[in-house]
Amino acid sequence: MASHDEWIEKTRDHVEHLFEGEGSGHDYQHIYRVWKMSQRIAEDEGANKTVAELGALLHDIADWKFHDGDDTIGPKKAEEWLNSIGADQSTIDQVKDIVATISYKGAGVATPMNSLEGKAVQDADRLDAIGAVGIGRAFSYGGNKNRLMYHPDEPPVMHDSFEAYKKNKGHTINHFYEKLLLLKDRMNTDTGKRIAEERHQYMQEYVDRFLKEWDGHA
Ligand code: ADP
Ligand code: NI
Repeated sequence: MASHDEWIEKTRDHVEHLFEGEGSGHDYQHIYRVWKMSQRIAEDEGANKTVAELGALLHDIADWKFHDGDDTIGPKKAEEWLNSIGADQSTIDQVKDIVATISYKGAGVATPMNSLEGKAVQDADRLDAIGAVGIGRAFSYGGNKNRLMYHPDEPPVMHDSFEAYKKNKGHTINHFYEKLLLLKDRMNTDTGKRIAEERHQYMQEYVDRFLKEWDGHA
């Protein structure tokens, strides 16, 4: 078991260095929160903690949004890294599968996870996109990409393909309708659903209030 703890510690270190200076909502703090939440969900749901924790630590290792839409780089990088620290092939395959399938791909695109560990990590990642932290991350991402906070003449678009979702450049309030407010109904695990419910409520109240203030009604 000691080697498992060592893989996790080495991977945590590696990822912390990789994400240094990243200011778009994909910083190491996000990875840390997803790691801790994955631990909690994996424990509650009886998933393999080593696989879930490695999946969480490596899930954003090469996000497609920062590689011209290429979503094959992440699993490749995860495999290279896990090989370099001597992880066994079964662990590598399970973690690679999580990294390859975790991402949100548009309102109308299903993103099923193949394993209980993957379900735990996907829930943890999505929980970090909603609630108070999620609101902060959305505006931070929008600022990083020079997007408007809101524009009343641009309604949300329910993307039905990953291609269309990738090209999206809408304002940040639209992102709440195109993704964030949909996440609670896409949670995999009971633990995830329970936590999402409360965060969703908070976020919905925030958006309602934002739009009221925008119109000068609050
Ligand atoms: P996932 O890990 O499910 O793929 P993302 O990597 O797409 O999630 O998102 C990372 C963070 O950036 C999230 O908090 C998300 O809400 C935010 N984000 C992504 N796209 C946008 C956008 N178009 N506008 C505002 N925030 C965004
Ligand atoms: Ni993430």
